[in-house]
Amino acid sequence: MDKLGLIDEAIRRYYKETHETVSEDLITSILYSVDSGGKRIRPLILLDLLEGFGLELNQAHLDVAASLEMIHTGSLIHDDLPAMDNDDYRRGRLTNHKKFDEATAILAGDSLFLDPFDLLARADLKAEIIVRLVQLLSQSSGTFGMVGGQMLDMKGEGQALNLEQLASIHANKTGRLLTFPFTAAGIIAEQSEQVISQLTVAGMLIGHAFQVRDDILDVTASFEELGKTPQKDLLAEKSTYPALLGLDQSYVVLDDSLNQATAIFQNLSQSQDFEPSQIFQVIERLRLHA
Ligand code: IPE
Ligand code: IPE
Ligand code: MG
Ligand code: MG
Ligand code: MG
Repeated sequence: MDKLGLIDEAIRRYYKETHETVSEDLITSILYSVDSGGKRIRPLILLDLLEGFGLELNQAHLDVAASLEMIHTGSLIHDDLPAMDNDDYRRGRLTNHKKFDEATAILAGDSLFLDPFDLLARADLKAEIIVRLVQLLSQSSGTFGMVGGQMLDMKGEGQALNLEQLASIHANKTGRLLTFPFTAAGIIAEQSEQVISQLTVAGMLIGHAFQVRDDILDVTASFEELGKTPQKDLLAEKSTYPALLGLDQSYVVLDDSLNQATAIFQNLSQSQDFEPSQIFQVIERLRLHA
């Protein structure tokens, strides 16, 4: 099975085998969004980096990858709710609240924010590694990460924000969860604190690039390419890079962040026992050309 299939299987196993079912309807709604086939970039980055550090992938690594993708999927379900971005399509299908109902979508999101900590807590890793990962995943997701960033995003609608404020929204709503696999890979591979902080900086750069890219695609791509309705940001008067800097400059910002991240991995591959080819491929796939 490929990595994507293994990540999906780890999530599915949690819902189908770990506990006695309380509500089949809730699990149906959760798995509807999980199974919609996202790109899985966050868990794939984690697995690619672990391999880059020479680790052989095992179930514990897949459980960490799965827990990250679960939180991300929950964030999308809530992001699409009428009270937030009010979107009807996600990953090429109806959004969770359109397929089921709003209450179900809210609860499916709640589940996908809480269940990962159970999955993570019992992963077959050293206790001190698990504690660090639990703390990092919570911080990346909650008030001081994704949720905090989503609050800034909502408050920013219709406002004329400056570049610094926009960068802070992106760093939190998207950057923190995208940084998690970089930092987590360093922790799991038992790298020095110095290497872990280099990985974290690379993650922040990729996280920033990823949201700038998402903002560009909202303007330039089609429903078929995105699996979600394009041109939504302008309608909602969102603060985005294209809105603030224009498209041309947004492409420059995207390239610049990706180049800086590449340089960090070039350094790492020279100073450490790190094989960068897989992460280079991920970075190159994020490039867009005007
Ligand atoms: C979309 O994330 C939301 C952002 C944080 C920009 P992805 O582009 O990773 O969405 P999926 O998981 O592939 O659907
Ligand atoms: C989403 O940002 C960030 C999340 C935390 C989910 P967007 O609102 O731009 O993501 P899309 O464009 O709906 O996927
Ligand atoms: Mg949003
Ligand atoms: Mg949205
Ligand atoms: Mg978007």
